[in-house]
Amino acid sequence: MKMSKWVSTILLLSFLNPIISKGSSNLAQDFLEFANKNEVFEWMVGVRRKIHEKPELGYEEYETSEMIRKELDKMGILYEYPVAGTGVVGFVGSGEGPFVGLRADMDALPMQEMVEWKHKSKVDGKMHACGHDGHVTMLLGAAKILKQHSHLLKGTVVLVFQPAEEGGGGAKLVVESGILKNVKAIFGLHVAPEQPLGQVFSRSGTIMAGSGFFEAVITGKGGHAAIPQHSIDPILAASNVVVSLQHLVSREADPLDSQVITVAKFQGGGAFNVIPDSVTIGGTFRAFSKASFTQLRQRIEEVIVGQATVHRCNATVDFAVDNKPFFPATINDAGLHKFFQNVAGDVLGVNNVKEMLPFTGAEDFSFYQEVIPGYFYFIGMNNDKNGKPASLHSPFFQLNEDVLPYGAAMQATLAATYLSDSQSQHPENHDEL
Ligand SMILES: *[C@@H]1O[C@H](CO)[C@@H](O)[C@H](O)[C@H]1NC(C)=O
Repeated sequence: MKMSKWVSTILLLSFLNPIISKGSSNLAQDFLEFANKNEVFEWMVGVRRKIHEKPELGYEEYETSEMIRKELDKMGILYEYPVAGTGVVGFVGSGEGPFVGLRADMDALPMQEMVEWKHKSKVDGKMHACGHDGHVTMLLGAAKILKQHSHLLKGTVVLVFQPAEEGGGGAKLVVESGILKNVKAIFGLHVAPEQPLGQVFSRSGTIMAGSGFFEAVITGKGGHAAIPQHSIDPILAASNVVVSLQHLVSREADPLDSQVITVAKFQGGGAFNVIPDSVTIGGTFRAFSKASFTQLRQRIEEVIVGQATVHRCNATVDFAVDNKPFFPATINDAGLHKFFQNVAGDVLGVNNVKEMLPFTGAEDFSFYQEVIPGYFYFIGMNNDKNGKPASLHSPFFQLNEDVLPYGAAMQATLAATYLSDSQSQHPENHDEL
């Protein structure tokens, strides 16, 4: 549909007339106020606790997905389902372009919650220890804000509830589904337990590392531990493999090009007096550039196989990319950085918008950024001046629910402002999704 002349004239007038126009600053404050309303806050807390009690692992988020769809139904928001397995993609706004994406990850971790409280995980061995229950809730909160103000939206917000962030690379499948084809930009957030509540943290360019996993089986020949000359000892071989892997970063990588190799798994043997047949080791590696990542991957394989051979063992190396795809580095779009800082300043105050250093964690949000300009940021939730809160992926992790209105308002304001800005820059933009 082409915008008629009088509509664009009215739009133009509304930009010129400060009484009619709602600046992004007003919008930000309205949105935050709405998210802080008692009934909205209580609703978000309720949703979050329900999801927290029923944690589900990557690609198994059936009940979480159903809860999301029920809430979207109640709000009258249309959605597509299934996307990438259990994923849900909602649409709020004019139904026409431009399109802007907001993303939340849905999956929990395979660990036992150790926090004793009323809404503790009801599933043994599974826990929302990375705050994804909060991320989903904040996106539902943003959806409610946007739906309430949908007459102000100059385009369509695409709400991406994505499965399997924890290693599964759900974002890759969402991209491959094609549903984001006409999306012009996408925003994602992560809770930060140690950073102050009411502040956001990010940077332009590379913010998190590329990440991969490896597993190797080192095979020797088992036998009596007291007669080693009749065996080929895979424990000693694997031990040397672990040590040699550490030399890749310390001796082969540029000290200014940060990289990590960690062997986090070492399994073999079961008795004091038996040399086992084989040992399995596994771990992760991180690098910020594609070239360093590729180099590291190749050298990991060479070192494991070569060092095993030194000890008369054989080794096979598996990068398990079928169920744990390599994550690219998370790289924030430079143009969106300025935009983000302005909007975040309007929502939270300029003093609460902080720059951060990159770190070697990884995020599958990077798959979106490979195809669309994307921006990822952290949102603080610590309001305890004395205690040091448990970190992400700790069985003692606790989400501070006071973060929910901030995250919901931030996401909603980013999306709404992005649409107004791009509509005023390209008023002819009317792609179908
Ligand atoms: C290693 O592989 C070779 C070739 O398949 C085989 O001959 C040898 O027995 C293997 N060594 C061990 C320790 O498994």
